[in-house]
Amino acid sequence: MFTIDHLGIAVKSLASAKAIYEKLGLSVSPEETVEAEKVRLVMVPVGESRLELLEPTCEDSVIARFLAKRGEGLHHVCLRVPDLPAAVARLKQDGVRLVAEEIKIGAGGHRYVFVHPASTGGVLLELVDSAH
Ligand code: CO
Repeated sequence: MFTIDHLGIAVKSLASAKAIYEKLGLSVSPEETVEAEKVRLVMVPVGESRLELLEPTCEDSVIARFLAKRGEGLHHVCLRVPDLPAAVARLKQDGVRLVAEEIKIGAGGHRYVFVHPASTGGVLLELVDSAH
């Protein structure tokens, strides 16, 4: 089944960005660093979905570059798909532009790919496997 797994939000500071959600009474996960992506993140569960707050760990992080160019705000939308390898194969066949050709392993061992905004109407689209 397809769901919105999470919305990724680029922030300068996790400490200040997560405060609003704590004030609303939502629970915020412990901070986790993903070395491969050069980000530190927290997840905020909201119903069946989550918000993912992303803070860069260094200047050449993708998130650091996003913040420099666009400022804080919505960075990507993540859909959970039933069969990620099959979905990726179909997209490639149709000439859809992916950010990287290979499926990667991310936080918590989940598999993911990013579809380039040029192929999605301007939204960086993350796809994760519901089978993980
Ligand atoms: Co994400």
